[in-house]
Amino acid sequence: MNEINVGLEGVLVGQTSISNVDGENGKLSYRGEDIESLISRPFLQVIWLLLFGDCPSAQQEQQLAQFLLAHRELGQDERNMLAALPMGTHPMLMLQALVPVLDLSGRADLAVPFGGDDALHGLIIAARLPTLIAAWYNRHKHRDWPIRSNSIEPQRAFLKSLHATEPTPKQVAALDCVQILQLEHSYNAGTFAGRVTLSTQAPIQSSIAASIGTLFGNLHGGADQAALEFAQSVGGPDNAARCVGDVLAAGGRIMGMGHREYRTVDPRATLLKPLARDLCEDCPDSARLLATLEAIEASCADKLAKPGKPIRANVEFYKGAVFHALGIPSDYFTAMFASARVYGYIAHALEFRPQARLIRPRAEYRAA
Ligand code: COA
Repeated sequence: MNEINVGLEGVLVGQTSISNVDGENGKLSYRGEDIESLISRPFLQVIWLLLFGDCPSAQQEQQLAQFLLAHRELGQDERNMLAALPMGTHPMLMLQALVPVLDLSGRADLAVPFGGDDALHGLIIAARLPTLIAAWYNRHKHRDWPIRSNSIEPQRAFLKSLHATEPTPKQVAALDCVQILQLEHSYNAGTFAGRVTLSTQAPIQSSIAASIGTLFGNLHGGADQAALEFAQSVGGPDNAARCVGDVLAAGGRIMGMGHREYRTVDPRATLLKPLARDLCEDCPDSARLLATLEAIEASCADKLAKPGKPIRANVEFYKGAVFHALGIPSDYFTAMFASARVYGYIAHALEFRPQARLIRPRAEYRAA
């Protein structure tokens, strides 16, 4: 009998220089630089580093900022498509539906320096995702959309177009930090789905749509929404131990806990927890939600202890408290994740396309 590994756990399927997930030691770096230092760098510098492998000059950073600003707006056809979608469509399904049909013609006067069509088209999609998210949100709020912001800072522009008010510097810095932490994570399921798509010589918009579809699931990016909604359903810290016990007794999983790669704490969760504390202390509702998350985490540490592989909070767990404090509704969390992770998808397309080979594994046939 052949040994079968359905989840491909531990199977090496390639090499990458984009990021290093050191699961044994709980460390994550992009292009050799630890996330602990990357979160204090400007967002656009980190994107450039991720995509092209080196630090941008001031002129290159400005060039990237201008490119993203110039390609942010939705065209009339794109607005019509958004308006034609059923109102109940989840933001992640909206993104997956629209990414392949966005207008990818670039402004002739604003070239992307490296990476050919994959970089050009990928960055146009990346520029458009926050606008699609804000437009979808405002459509549900019955507000005129999209609300415009001329800021070249992506997070400032996004928060303004979401809430129609100017965000504070603290809010912009918090969102920058979360989005930097979500940019890239090696061969995660979504990135791998994108690689499979690229391996057939499909265009980057098909690859990004496949990645976004994969990110949506609860065992991957969708855990962010599920973790926060679980905490809301728990109601308060005093109920945490009982509710966690009920989920586990029914054979369920606690969302935002555990990770395939990390044998110790997810370093992104370590950074997100104090950020959540700092943002939530100003608002009693957010502070109570955070206290509930902390009580859930403590209860999981007690109930989920496994020899050899502790099950600890992952990136999804405290991120929701930060987003909640920023006024982002839980059903938009995973779409926000996609709007950051898209840069990782592009980086992988640039790395993989030149050496791509059709990815096509085998199954053992068994007569029914
Ligand atoms: N809650 C309860 N039990 C969990 C758990 C969780 N969050 N995560 C793992 N486990 C348990 C499993 O039930 C399994 O128990 P068993 O050996 O008794 O059957 C064991 O730990 C191993 O789980 P498995 O799914 O095989 O491990 P994995 O390393 O592939 O799991 C995840 C990784 C992410 C799929 C898993 O931890 C999970 O489902 N987490 C919740 C979803 C989530 O937060 N996803 C976002 C990841 S960034």
